Amino acid sequence: MSSRSMKVLVVGSGGREHAMAWKLARSPRVAQVLVAPGNAGTAVEPGVRNVPGGSPEALLQLAIDEGIDFTVVGPEAPLAAGIVDLFEAHGLRIFGPTREAAQLESSKDFAKRFLVRHGIPTAHHATFSDAQAAHEWVRRQGAPIVIKADGLAAGKGVVVALDEADAHDAIDRMLVDNAFGDAGARVVIEEFLAGEEASFIVVVDGLRVVPLATSQDHKRLLDHDQGPNTGGMGAYSPAPVVTPALHERVMREVIAPTLAGLAADGIRYRGFLYAGLMISAAGDPKVLEFNCRLGDPETQPIMMRLTSDLLDLLEAALDGTLGDVQPAWDPRPALGVVLAAAGYPDAPRSGDPVRVKPIDDPLVQVFHAGTRSSEGRCLTSGGRVLCVTALGDDIRQAQGHAYAAIEGIDFDGVQFRRDIGSRALETS
Ligand code: AMP
Ligand code: GLY
Repeated sequence: MSSRSMKVLVVGSGGREHAMAWKLARSPRVAQVLVAPGNAGTAVEPGVRNVPGGSPEALLQLAIDEGIDFTVVGPEAPLAAGIVDLFEAHGLRIFGPTREAAQLESSKDFAKRFLVRHGIPTAHHATFSDAQAAHEWVRRQGAPIVIKADGLAAGKGVVVALDEADAHDAIDRMLVDNAFGDAGARVVIEEFLAGEEASFIVVVDGLRVVPLATSQDHKRLLDHDQGPNTGGMGAYSPAPVVTPALHERVMREVIAPTLAGLAADGIRYRGFLYAGLMISAAGDPKVLEFNCRLGDPETQPIMMRLTSDLLDLLEAALDGTLGDVQPAWDPRPALGVVLAAAGYPDAPRSGDPVRVKPIDDPLVQVFHAGTRSSEGRCLTSGGRVLCVTALGDDIRQAQGHAYAAIEGIDFDGVQFRRDIGSRALETS
């Protein structure tokens, strides 16, 4: 294909999508990146243009009207709604798993049954739709114990209950009060696993996989892993906990049997596959969850470290030729700090003006998430507002660059963690 001829569509509006669009716009083969619906950051990113978001049907029409050559889907909801099936039925090239394959993320019960059926290490569990039976199980198992809404709940459907009372409360909220609607009509209750988490993300072409650089995020709202779970308050890559020996084990004990299991179940999987892992003190990995997409905010540091072409990688995965490409990585670590809105994660406030001093440093990128532009101003419009991401010679330097850049950013009620990267510093 001649140079700069491709028109690429990125579906989504978060920091993950800004980072993907930023990287795709740097491809020598890409003429323009459209982001649906994007945010105030993608609106001004060179080579990138925002277009309206909408249902899979609306996006299909948009892709046809705009003459899109290649689509990549950021978040899980459109995948679970079957956007890939729809685009493919109309002969459009789109990267992501089908609705059937996306159940690995959209139903925790589906994922757990898959893991057990194929002998992939994971926490013991049971699934309930009846509250009394769930309460009874918790009384028998004791705490700590983990209660999970079966369906998609934007990263908020998991309660790690340190005592039994919290577990009973979570069961009542999901099964009796319907706090998550249909997504919480069934709950998975599982054994509490202690250890350190890592995000292990691979690109799958149906047969083969290419692992991306490893990463780790910080899920709790407050410093020292206190406060409620969030979608992720910061991330870095690589994750020192994933040593070369552990990497090899995860490929052998988790990724290979997952691919074999998909094949045995007759499910074709093309897309990103994200295994959220818990690594025990003894160094044994277990799967906490699957996501059928890239992580947010893990993508932001991962994209900053990817030195090869992202479009080449995704096209090869779509064409079933992953054997021909190897992504190349900047050996330097990258680290991203999320700036969240007042009230996040329960009730994020919108409409606060965001002030960002221009940063002219190739080592730093400010990826936008919950922002929108209004009359030339940038306003908060979601829980996670920005992810300030930086490269450094080591993790401490990357951390220093990111926090220095944050000094030039301000909005009312901003919340961020001061300790992103601390676990990497302890491990390395
Ligand atoms: P999930 O969406 O399943 O990854 O759960 C969100 C977060 O809850 C994870 O990143 C962990 O921090 C925590 N978590 C989930 N399952 C467990 C478990 N079985 N044991 C301990 N923590 C867990
Ligand atoms: N950062 C965790 C996720 O994207 O699911």
